[in-house]
Amino acid sequence: MATAKKSPAKKAPAKKAPARKSAAPAKKSTRARADATTLLAKDHKDVKALFKRYEKLSKAEADGSERQELAEQICRMLTVHAQIEEEIFYPAVREAEVDEDLLDEAEVEHASAKDLIAQIQSMSPEDDLYDAKVTVLGEYINHHVEEEEGQMFPKARRAKVDLEGLAGRLTERKQALMSESGATEDVADMTS
Ligand SMILES: [Fe+2]
Ligand SMILES: [Fe+2]
Repeated sequence: MATAKKSPAKKAPAKKAPARKSAAPAKKSTRARADATTLLAKDHKDVKALFKRYEKLSKAEADGSERQELAEQICRMLTVHAQIEEEIFYPAVREAEVDEDLLDEAEVEHASAKDLIAQIQSMSPEDDLYDAKVTVLGEYINHHVEEEEGQMFPKARRAKVDLEGLAGRLTERKQALMSESGATEDVADMTS
C-alpha cells in the first residue's frame, strides 16, 4: 500500500507578470457594487462586439447558417436587453422625473428596433436584404446607445435613481429571460 505522495516535481509555476502584447488592459474591479448603468453599458458593449463580428462574416460572405446563428444571438440579446430596460430601468428613471421626452424617444426607438428584429428573425440569411437589415439594426442600436449612455444614464445618476438597487433586479430578470429563450451560453458571456 503506497502512501499517496505528491510528486515533488509538481511545483506550481512561479507567477510572473506576463508581458502580453495587446491583451485587454488589467480588468477594473467590478466588485465595487454593481450599478444599473454599468450593467446596461456592459450589454451595449457586448452586443456591439457581436455586430462587429457580424460585419466581418458579412464581408467574408460567410455561410448563411453561420451568419444566421450570430444574427439570432444578437436579436435575442437585444430583445432581453430592451425588455429589462422597459420593465425595470425606464420606469424607475421615469419615476425620478428624468427627462420624459428622452424616455419617450427611447421607447419609440425600442419599438422600431423590435420591428427590425422581427423582420430579421423571419428572414432567410440568403435573402438579399438580410445582411443590410442586420447592419442597419447595428447602426440604429449605436445611435440609441449613445443617447442612453450620453444622456439618460448621467441624468439618472444626477436624479439619484437607486442604481445599485436596480442592478440586482436587472440581473435577475435578465437571467430568467435568457434561460427562457434557451440562450444560456449568452448568459455566460454576459455575466462575466
Ligand atoms: Fe440599452
Ligand atoms: Fe434602450
